[in-house]
Amino acid sequence: MVFQRKHILGLEELDAREINLVLDTAASMKEVSERDVKKVPALKGTTVVNLFFEPSTRTRSSFEIAEKRLSADVLNFTLSQSSVIKGETLLDTARNLEAMGAGVIVIRHSMSGAPWLLAKELHSSIINAGDGSHEHPSQALLDLFTIREIKGEIGGLVVVIVGDIRHSRVARSNIWGFLRLGAEVRVVGPATLIPKEIEYMDVKVFYTLEEALKDADVVIMLRIQMERQGSEYFPSLREYSKFYGLSREKLRIAKDDVSVMHPGPINRGVELSSEVADDVNSVILDQVSNGIAVRMAMLYLVASGGRNV
Ligand code: CP
Repeated sequence: MVFQRKHILGLEELDAREINLVLDTAASMKEVSERDVKKVPALKGTTVVNLFFEPSTRTRSSFEIAEKRLSADVLNFTLSQSSVIKGETLLDTARNLEAMGAGVIVIRHSMSGAPWLLAKELHSSIINAGDGSHEHPSQALLDLFTIREIKGEIGGLVVVIVGDIRHSRVARSNIWGFLRLGAEVRVVGPATLIPKEIEYMDVKVFYTLEEALKDADVVIMLRIQMERQGSEYFPSLREYSKFYGLSREKLRIAKDDVSVMHPGPINRGVELSSEVADDVNSVILDQVSNGIAVRMAMLYLVASGGRNV
């Protein structure tokens, strides 16, 4: 099968066949990551720029590891040391990096739509590493990969996404991804953190965590996105945690083999207790490990230029 896309911008625009191709390719990449010599020459001669305008631990580090495992030449853009501080625009910055030979640009930006702007204006392949509160495709793809690996199949699973749906790019990408592969998707949180447009997505909306957790196969806990909230959406973190925080007791409502996910960073004691985060049902560190193979697959596919894979 041929991956026809030059860019990976969001899960909304990928169909089930394309998502499965990324996941299948990631399975091969995971096998590379388990070898003694974790390196293949697939991106030898390709320059990849990691253009991060927002902080990141997991996404940035795992893209860099993925690029190095594919033998790419890697440039990490550092915002605080860049000419953006002197007023250079995003587009001018990206065009200059492209003029230096960037074949792939991995971008994280606070502005929703920034990766689409670069894809429209540049010749390089663009991978979205998170744009505002819009999409975070590599996170959703690694979540899908992790769940497919554990459960065997995604179709028919009950997936519950908990918390700050309004500001979460992880929620939006996961909704598209899990729906495309045939899961039932539920969202739950305070009414103020469930956006109105959710009505147009094929998800079930709950306002009580206990109700949403019935028969759940997968629970995705979200961090409260304090950096994207202009005003107060709930009275206090303590109250939020009481109603929407995941404890061992609440988790018993879900299926016995429920998988607990979190994109990180975790706020222990807010969206989930430490005992849940570190329990046997938690797959949080599996998500992080799988992020490398999934990002290798994304880089490989966009750089493969429509070749059969
Ligand atoms: N999940 C995620 O995007 O984490 P980082 O912000 O650390 O990259």
